Amino acid sequence: MPTRRRSSVSEMRIPADTQALIEDALHRALEARDRAYAPYSGFRVGAAIIAGGRVFTGQNIENASYPVSVCAERNAVARMIDEGEHRIDAVAVVTGADEPTPPCGACRQVLWEFGREALVVAETTSGRRATWALEDLLPSAFGPEDLDR
Ligand code: THU
Repeated sequence: MPTRRRSSVSEMRIPADTQALIEDALHRALEARDRAYAPYSGFRVGAAIIAGGRVFTGQNIENASYPVSVCAERNAVARMIDEGEHRIDAVAVVTGADEPTPPCGACRQVLWEFGREALVVAETTSGRRATWALEDLLPSAFGPEDLDR
C-alpha cells in the first residue's frame, strides 16, 4: 500500500488558541464516535467541526439500504448549519483504523462549500495523528463560483 504524505499540526504552525480548539474537537470527535451507528461496516467514525469558535459533532449513520448511509463529517456539517454557522475553520476526524483517515471524496466536497481554508485533523483511537489543508485534499475543486461560468 502506498503511504500518504503527512504533516503534523506543529509543522503547520497553528496558533495556540486554534490548537486548543483542535484538541477539544478531537476529544469531542472521539466521544461522538461512540455514538456511531455502523452495524454493517463496523467502521465507526466521529467528526467534530470547529466553526465560529464552537464545535459541532457528528458520527456515521449507516442504513440497511447501504448507499444511503451518511458519513460522520456530513452529519457534523448538518449540525453546524442547523446552528447557523457557515464557515468551517477545522474538522477533526477520529477512527479506529491503523492510520489516520482523511474524509472521503463526497465529504471533502461538502466541507469545501463551507471551509476552503479549513484544516483537517485526523486521529486514530491509538493516538496517531495527521493534518492536511482541505485545499490539498481537493485540488481544483468545483465550488459555487463555477456555477457563474
Ligand atoms: N465514513 C465516514 O463516516 N467518513 C469518511 O470520510 C469515510 C467513511 C463511514 C461511512 C461508512 O459508514 C463507513 O465509514 C465505512 O465506509
